[in-house]
Amino acid sequence: MYIPSEGRYDKIKYNRCGKSGLMLPAISLGLWHNFGRVDVLENSRAMVKHAFDLGITHFDLANNYGPPYGSAEETMGYILKHDLSSYRDELIISSKAGYDMWPGPYGNWGSRKYLTASIDQSLKRMGLEYVDIFYHHRPDPDTPLEETMDALHDIVKSGKAIYAGISNYPADLTKKAEQILKSMGTHCLIHQPKYSMFERWIEDGLIKVLSEEGIGSIVFSPLAQGLLTDKYLKGIPHDSRAAKPTGFLKPEQVTDEKIKKVAKLNKMAADRGQSLAQMALAWVLRHNEVTSALIGTSKMEQIDDAVKALDNLSFSNDELKRIDNILAG
Ligand SMILES: NC(=O)c1ccc[n+]([C@@H]2O[C@H](COP(=O)([O-])OP(=O)(O)OC[C@H]3O[C@@H](n4cnc5c(N)ncnc54)[C@H](OP(=O)(O)O)[C@@H]3O)[C@@H](O)[C@H]2O)c1
Repeated sequence: MYIPSEGRYDKIKYNRCGKSGLMLPAISLGLWHNFGRVDVLENSRAMVKHAFDLGITHFDLANNYGPPYGSAEETMGYILKHDLSSYRDELIISSKAGYDMWPGPYGNWGSRKYLTASIDQSLKRMGLEYVDIFYHHRPDPDTPLEETMDALHDIVKSGKAIYAGISNYPADLTKKAEQILKSMGTHCLIHQPKYSMFERWIEDGLIKVLSEEGIGSIVFSPLAQGLLTDKYLKGIPHDSRAAKPTGFLKPEQVTDEKIKKVAKLNKMAADRGQSLAQMALAWVLRHNEVTSALIGTSKMEQIDDAVKALDNLSFSNDELKRIDNILAG
């Protein structure tokens, strides 16, 4: 029987999510890769338990994580049932709908029909009565925002989710989404955008909106799917995401230009006494508006590496400039 580490809440930092009552761990674990039916269940299970032992209370899912679609939620359901059933009130579990999930016009995008059906499916796969956060996964250009937000609001009011979130929404739509939700009496708790040294779009307006509206954020792919680590410095390792047929990082994305920058960043991280992964995580967490860095992992040691980032989160202005210069090439 799994008994979590007693000292788990002393091992990590918790940040307030925007202006809400909810605290999230500075590092959260996402189940996009390495938790599907194609993966080794015992490894997935060990990683979730290890994360919880380190005080990582937040696990992020979506309806279509796998492969196949839905299977990461089934894996999480298995782990919840076998290991974490006594700890539900210590966990923040999120799911999402917004991308392709099932065939036909009702299994994608942002209709009320899709979101309402999808939350029920996610709860069933995970064996849960509610998720803590339910997100609309991406903006839908063809569904009125009012309809999608109304669906999120009703899902929260029904008790199937405790909080509502949005993901991949640009700054202006984020503001509108919050206004609509607020008018119905539901606050948008959190935004989930992509953010890393290689993907800085949120600096151009979104962070300001999050601050104005008191919305927290959990930034995904802070390691650029593994590029912002030392793993690709000598080529593509056989067990890396870029080498796997099911990986979203493609070998052609591991470019010489990127690797040259990574080598310089790696040297700078060493000067700071950190791994590059740790420096990349500290760098995204430097904004007050970033509540949590949402990592993926394929091995337990990667979780240890990530949590150690919290030992050195500060950057001097000179260091930040040095990073900008490296990234500018
Ligand atoms: N909302 C959205 O649209 C959206 C989209 C994408 C992701 N997400 C969420 O964000 C989560 C994280 O995304 P991500 O997996 O792309 O994040 P990431 O942290 O940028 O990349 C994770 C990958 O980097 C490698 N890695 C991690 N730690 C390492 C270390 N210390 N040293 C060397 N390599 C390391 C591992 O790949 P290897 O397999 O090579 O070891 C790992 O699977 C997802 O699980 C999901 O929950 C959300």
